[in-house]
Amino acid sequence: MARRRMIYEGKAKILYEGPEPGTLIQFFKDDTTAGNGEKHELIEGKGVLNNRLSEHFMTGLASIGVPTHFIKRLNMREQLVRAVEMIPLEVVVRNVAAGSMSKRLGIEEGTQLPRPIIEFYLKNDELNDPIVSEEHIIAFGWATQQDLDDMVSLGLRVNDFMSGMMMGVGIKLVDFKIEIGRVFEGDFQRLIVADEISPDSCRLWDVESGQKLDKDVFRRGLGDLSEAYTEVAKRLGVMPRQNGSSSGPKLVH
Ligand code: TMP
Repeated sequence: MARRRMIYEGKAKILYEGPEPGTLIQFFKDDTTAGNGEKHELIEGKGVLNNRLSEHFMTGLASIGVPTHFIKRLNMREQLVRAVEMIPLEVVVRNVAAGSMSKRLGIEEGTQLPRPIIEFYLKNDELNDPIVSEEHIIAFGWATQQDLDDMVSLGLRVNDFMSGMMMGVGIKLVDFKIEIGRVFEGDFQRLIVADEISPDSCRLWDVESGQKLDKDVFRRGLGDLSEAYTEVAKRLGVMPRQNGSSSGPKLVH
């Protein structure tokens, strides 16, 4: 079989050239990193779970009219996606204070925010993805004012959808990060949700117990990451079939 052309390798995913122009294949690795790669482990099966979960969230978003790069899942670890021109920003939406915001501003983790707060971070590993203001973004040309308005609108729609979906299975969506890309359609361009949405890029807390079901389990050494992600997948009904277990016909004695 011909080797595929690799377009990009990131910490948790690889992008290959897709079968048609304007498409890419997104491969989910088991590599798990924190602190800009300072902590790194292979967690078996994490890529499979994130492939499924990202598919679930992206198809759900598409069903309510939020445009995403997702086309279809190809296999356990790969999905076909639209090629986009990535905007070099991470869009973080927060409902509850946690993580870097708590640290930076001294607001206790778990404090409910009066409304969703949107932050932008520059995607730059050498600079450790610094937080940037809208002024910086416009002044340095990372995005236009129109892009910013569209990114805020996309972020809030993703937040509403994901918060509702998670609340339905007893999970609080504390915060999340999305990445956004530009697609060109004739004379028009528009922004769509790209990259992935998974427990790698969200904070998810069990409503009853407060238990963390996201990458903080790995970042903070709180236990078994794949158990946490499996719990999220199970609750959402997107658990991939395990070897030996089957939802197919059962032998009746
Ligand atoms: P933070 O509190 O560390 O800024 O993270 C906010 C949210 O964004 C959290 O859900 C984790 C996610 N995130 C990523 O997915 N990738 C990143 O590189 C960072 C810094 C955060």
